[in-house]
Amino acid sequence: YDYDLLVVGSANADLVIGVERRPAPGETVLGSDLVVHPGGKGANQAVAAGRLGARTALLARVGDDAHGRLLLDSQRAAGVDTAGVLVGGAPTGVALITVDPSGDNSIVVSPGANGRLTPEDVRSAGNLLAASRVVSAQLEIPLETVVEVVRNLAPGSRFVLNPSPPRALPAEVLAACDPLIVNEHEARVIVDTDLGDSPEDWASALLALGPRSVVITLGARGALVASADGAARVPSVKVETVDTTGAGDAFTAALAWRLGLDEPLAEAAAYAARVGAAAVTRAGAQESFPTAEEVASL
Ligand code: RIB
Ligand code: NA
Repeated sequence: YDYDLLVVGSANADLVIGVERRPAPGETVLGSDLVVHPGGKGANQAVAAGRLGARTALLARVGDDAHGRLLLDSQRAAGVDTAGVLVGGAPTGVALITVDPSGDNSIVVSPGANGRLTPEDVRSAGNLLAASRVVSAQLEIPLETVVEVVRNLAPGSRFVLNPSPPRALPAEVLAACDPLIVNEHEARVIVDTDLGDSPEDWASALLALGPRSVVITLGARGALVASADGAARVPSVKVETVDTTGAGDAFTAALAWRLGLDEPLAEAAAYAARVGAAAVTRAGAQESFPTAEEVASL
C-alpha cells in the first residue's frame, strides 16, 4: 500500500467565536474576536494522521476560494497527499462554532462543496482507494458517496466510519465498518431502539447491526471497544481542557492508522485516546493535533 490511511470526507473553514454562554432564541450575545481555523471532520482526520507520521491522502471537495486554499495549505503542511482534493462546484464548507469557557463547542455546518463530493468522484479516485491500507469516512458528505466508498474498497483494506453527524445507516455500510466509532448520541440515532443501560449493552446493540467491531467514546470515562472477541474498556487520559473541537477526529484518525499497523483494537484505542487528549489541550482543530513525539511524552 502507498498510503496508511485514505480519508474520504469533509473540509470546512471553522469560524470560531468564544462565548461566555450561548444565546437563547431571539437573544444576542457578544463574543470574542473571530478566528478562522482549517477544519471539517475529514480534513481534520487527514491532518491528525499526517502529523503523527502516517502516509495519508485526502479525498474531499473544496471551493475555488480563500477557505479552500487555507484547507489545502493545512493539509500540505501536515504532509498529506492532496491529489484527491477536488476544487470547485460550490463554496468551501463552513462551520460556525461557538466555544464556551469549559471548552465545549456547538457547531452548525454549511456543507457547501462537501455536498458535491459525489459517488462519481469516488469512482474516479479508484487509484487512491486501491493504494490505501485503511479508508475512513464521516457523514458531512452525502451518504451515497460513503456507500460508493464501501463498494470500491480494495481487497484486504479496512474501513473505519465515524457516523457524525449521525443518521440511520444502510446495512451495506454497517457491515463494512471495522470499527464503527460512535459516541452515545450517535449510538442512539443508529440503533433507533432501546439501547440498554451500560456502554456494554450499547456495544451489543450496535454489533447486532453488523459491524465487525465497535468503538464507543465516553468522554471523560474513556472508551469501550467491542467485537465478536469480546469487549474491553479503555481509560481516558486526564488533561486540562481548552478546546475539544476536532479531538474526536484526531482520535479516529489515530485509531485508524494504528489498526492499519495491525495493532489490536484495545491498544489502538488507548493510543488514540492519548492523541485525542493532546488535542483538547490546545485551541482549534487541526492546529491542536500532536506529533508522535508529543504523544509519547504525554
Ligand atoms: O469535528 C470537528 C469539526 O466538525 C470541525 O472542525 C467543524 O468543521 C465540524 O465539521
Ligand atoms: Na483542540
